[in-house]
Amino acid sequence: MGTLCVGMGTNSTRRVVRGQATATSRSLWDGVYTEEQAKRGEEMYRKECASCHGDTLVGGGGASPLTGGTFLSNWNGLTVGDLFERIRKTMPQGALGKLSKQQDADVLAYLLSFNKFPAGKTELQKQVEFLREIRFEATKPDSK
Ligand code: HEC
Repeated sequence: MGTLCVGMGTNSTRRVVRGQATATSRSLWDGVYTEEQAKRGEEMYRKECASCHGDTLVGGGGASPLTGGTFLSNWNGLTVGDLFERIRKTMPQGALGKLSKQQDADVLAYLLSFNKFPAGKTELQKQVEFLREIRFEATKPDSK
């Protein structure tokens, strides 16, 4: 990353680098989960997460909100993979490891849907290396 910022490349090399970045990067505004998946995730959320994070995801009693300004700014600029790992490694608190990767991906789809990121035609995958390619962009870019 750092080497891209020092400005030593010629114009042509810089153009190539930028072209690759756009070809491979997606953001939450590209429709990265399906409505069906979010529905499955909602059921799982009600069973495994709502007792602490609340029916409307606002948190409380020490559990962080999973919607709203603070949540969005916590994750803005990171990747969906980071949020997935956070859930996998630390949640549900007190019952760690209870959910499968697929169930975590479904719950994540529900969180995205609740936060009004658009649904698309393909499901959110459960492999973290793919999820790391999706940028968590809190505000809608002008081009979408
Ligand atoms: C027993 C209560 C409890 C349950 C159940 C629970 N959480 Fe949490 N969660 C917490 C607490 C407390 C925190 C904040 C402290 C911490 O980071 O561990 C938290 C933090 C989080 C965060 C970090 C939010 C941020 O912006 O930093 C995420 C994401 C999250 N939980 C998702 C989930 C999901 C998804 C589930 C269901 C699979 C779940 N949690 C179940 C208590 C819970």
